[in-house]
Amino acid sequence: MNILVTGGAGYIGSHTCVALLEAGHSVIIADNLCNSKRETVETIMQITNKEVTFYEVDVTNSEAVDVLFRNHKIDGVIHFAGLKAVGESVEKPLDYYYNNIVSTMVLAKACLTYSVNKFVFSSSATVYGDNEVPFVETMRLLPTTNPYGETKAMCERILTDIAKANPSFSVSLLRYFNPVGAHESGLIGEAPNGIPNNLMPYVTQVAKGKLEKLRVFGNDYPTADGTGVRDYIHVLDLAEGHVVALEKLTEGVHVYNLGTGQGTSVLELVKAFEEANGIEVPYEIVARRAGDIASFYADASKAKRELGWSAKRDIIAMCRDSWRFESNNKTEGF
Ligand code: NAD
Ligand code: UFG
Repeated sequence: MNILVTGGAGYIGSHTCVALLEAGHSVIIADNLCNSKRETVETIMQITNKEVTFYEVDVTNSEAVDVLFRNHKIDGVIHFAGLKAVGESVEKPLDYYYNNIVSTMVLAKACLTYSVNKFVFSSSATVYGDNEVPFVETMRLLPTTNPYGETKAMCERILTDIAKANPSFSVSLLRYFNPVGAHESGLIGEAPNGIPNNLMPYVTQVAKGKLEKLRVFGNDYPTADGTGVRDYIHVLDLAEGHVVALEKLTEGVHVYNLGTGQGTSVLELVKAFEEANGIEVPYEIVARRAGDIASFYADASKAKRELGWSAKRDIIAMCRDSWRFESNNKTEGF
């Protein structure tokens, strides 16, 4: 298939492009590079030894998107492009609502115009809000605590309504848990700008000596060791999940959790990182971070049952591969 991958130069998108190319699909990337670099497109080609077509475009721009659909016979769209920083979404709600929702509507409209019937959307476990764990796809969604989360819930609803009115338009809503890790080559991975908000990139930067120590946000949660529990998933498992979701997409709207089903606490992750890489990660316990939930992880059984997909890589592989990428990463003076 010819797949349009929006946000394909980004963290999850780049790994998914590699997985798509390795599975024999052709890839057209549309990315405005607002949170990624053009070189990543070259690196995807280097890893796979395959060609990729790249457009530096903003996918909220309907004329630019129209050109893509006119120039290529597209069989499916994977829509990763979006702004994703939770804290920033509270400061700049209009940017988040505009970018994430308009891009989804522009792409869906182009799909209807050009009879492209497969649409895979990057959603997030955040749409479950503070539900009971494990999170199951059939749960009623609860309000999220920030505009970013609301954009994901709204896009899910918009795509669901479009599919209802256009029965040949098939949609897969993929709810990611906590993606970490990097390609085994160490050539692509997560390289956040400035001080990382997320745990794994913070840990790798402490390990590298870029940051002094990890601040563990609270050890008084009702979890086994008191620290927050999440379902970390290797980005390569996540990437493979997209390929299967696309290949097996049938009419209608399908919702899948992409997680491992396993919770890991902050201190367990630190220990796994130290064990995997033989490097100490200094940390201190500080106050809880506002808006954090104590614990969430996936019920990952639906994706296994319906798609035959489950995550294969464990927390040690996630820590090893994250570190390999960070140690190779020459940005910001290193
Ligand atoms: P990322 O920032 O690395 O990648 C997103 C890419 O989209 C970037 O390359 C950026 O330049 C591009 N982009 C943003 N707006 C665009 C626009 N209007 N037009 C064209 N390109 C645009 O983020 P990621 O971690 O790879 O996330 C990919 C998707 O998965 C996002 O939609 C994100 O919300 C979602 N998601 C991520 C996580 C996570 O923890 N990383 C969790 C759940 C869901
Ligand atoms: N944590 C620390 N110190 C840090 C960073 C994080 O102790 O410096 C803790 C958090 O308190 C939490 C855990 O590590 O208990 C994971 O935090 P992350 O920030 O890595 O991830 P979140 O689960 O808070 O959020 C992420 C994405 C969201 C997404 C959500 C579900 O940032 O966009 O996963 O997919 F919605």
